[in-house]
Amino acid sequence: MIQQTHTAGGPQQHTIWQDGQVPEPCVIVIFGATGDLTQRKLLPTLAHLMHDHPLPESFKIVAFARRPMNDDQWRKMALDSVNKYLPPDDKLDSNAQKAFARNLYYCQSDFNDREGYYKLADLLERLDNEQGTGGNRIYYLATPPSTDSEIIYQLGGAGLARPSHVNGDEESWTRIVIEKPFGRDLASAQKLNRELARVFREKQIYRIDHYMGKETVQNLLAFRFANGIFEPLWNQKYIDHVQILVAESLGIGTRAEYYEESGAIRDMVQNHIMQVLCLTTMEAPVAFDADAIRDEKVKVMRAIPPLTAQEVAERTIRGQYTAGVIDGQQVVGYKQEQGVAPNSTTETYVALKLFIENWRWADVPFYIRTGKRLPKRSTEVTIQFKRVPHQLYKPSETKGLVPNRLTIRIQPDEGISLKFAAKVPGAARHLSDVDMNFSYASAFGIEPPDAYERLLADCMVGDSTLFIRRDETEMSWCIVDSITNAWKDMPASTVYPYPAGTWGPPEADALIEKDGRQWDNP
Ligand SMILES: NC(=O)c1ccc[n+]([C@@H]2O[C@H](COP(=O)([O-])OP(=O)(O)OC[C@H]3O[C@@H](n4cnc5c(N)ncnc54)[C@H](OP(=O)(O)O)[C@@H]3O)[C@@H](O)[C@H]2O)c1
Repeated sequence: MIQQTHTAGGPQQHTIWQDGQVPEPCVIVIFGATGDLTQRKLLPTLAHLMHDHPLPESFKIVAFARRPMNDDQWRKMALDSVNKYLPPDDKLDSNAQKAFARNLYYCQSDFNDREGYYKLADLLERLDNEQGTGGNRIYYLATPPSTDSEIIYQLGGAGLARPSHVNGDEESWTRIVIEKPFGRDLASAQKLNRELARVFREKQIYRIDHYMGKETVQNLLAFRFANGIFEPLWNQKYIDHVQILVAESLGIGTRAEYYEESGAIRDMVQNHIMQVLCLTTMEAPVAFDADAIRDEKVKVMRAIPPLTAQEVAERTIRGQYTAGVIDGQQVVGYKQEQGVAPNSTTETYVALKLFIENWRWADVPFYIRTGKRLPKRSTEVTIQFKRVPHQLYKPSETKGLVPNRLTIRIQPDEGISLKFAAKVPGAARHLSDVDMNFSYASAFGIEPPDAYERLLADCMVGDSTLFIRRDETEMSWCIVDSITNAWKDMPASTVYPYPAGTWGPPEADALIEKDGRQWDNP
């Protein structure tokens, strides 16, 4: 086993902003501030960001939420979450906690109460005048998707969406961040896009897919386009097939209501997997900027034709977990989870075969898998290269040898490994697979920043490269809709059971094995 072919010279400290970028003063208004996402993710991330990458003094956070609370009670609630959810190494001391809490304000209102938005406008104006926040706003919708339209409409109605102007030039900016899921099909995504477009311009809209904030996902671009040796091989001439796996060992936890409506394809494939697929397969953008990169991603999706009903029957497998064992613990099946209908046909697993119909990828199958209650948590992309054209060695000397395989581990154990054949020491001509392995942790000696930290930092400086553009969401839904629409007409018996703690139903193995290939399980 060849270990660690690269080290970058020990621990390094980087600023989260690009060279020369300094965030301007602003207010982040969080809608849904008492909810799970804000408490578990956004507040700890903002606290860490402000502590490790000092922000302008005039950076404030306003909670827009319906529970009766004053600023002090909200500050206490926020600090409790920051203390609970920041990892042990990042805990803030009491001075840092106080400094963070001083930036927090509370605006009490229901989302559909017009008066609340005027109250918010008054508070924002006061912060501009007293705290120097400069009229700049980020509205973060950490809210149930069903409430998004109302909030967008009310922001527009209260005049809160418009940046202020002086002599025709924008004097300040406003941005809106929308969480996933972005719609539940093409029609609802288009409707939400239209509602957004009535109030905000596209450049103000930041649709989040937190996978795009992961260092390892961004590294797909660096790996492909900052190295000369891989790109010439990155096509149908040398690549046999590609696998993308997003495996979770967790079940649905307390999110039955959401998951029953979504299932694995909407929860994972439409957004995260489609993004990873695009970055793995797109052409080199003309520049490293938001539109150039997003243009190339859209081209990939345009080259994936929506599937016909027959293709869906042949190239997709749905599964649902039954009771089983994960990490030595007995767990219940999906239908027994709290809040799940006893006759639910929601898929907790999906395997698909897609093709990208363009010159680079013609006839290369992309096998995609995602599921809950699989044996381990793992997200990775496997590039399986073709066999050598002529084998010099006898079958007995190459027994068990697989063709070259490049594995990009997105999480956990972030890194990249390349499998290749090497001669086993000794007189005989026996060959064996070895791995050349790059690990982020040992190469760089620092933990990559959290995905939300990256994305919040980018939004503050107006960099939308890692956010999803309108046409991307719609193209992706076109592909997913073609599958979910065909599933509606297929019998419930085609949602195949798999015991928790296994790699999915046997029918998914058959999907790839009938092509003479096998899943690459981590
Ligand atoms: N949680 C995650 O890990 C996660 C991950 C990725 C994406 N997301 C997305 O992020 C969004 C938020 O998720 P979440 O898990 O944080 O949801 P959640 O825990 O249900 O929180 C919803 C928040 O919205 C507030 N709210 C709902 N209706 C309201 C109304 N009419 N007026 C005022 N406030 C109202 C709730 O206030 P009360 O507390 O007063 O009820 C709560 O603060 C969802 O779109 C979700 O899909 C979440």
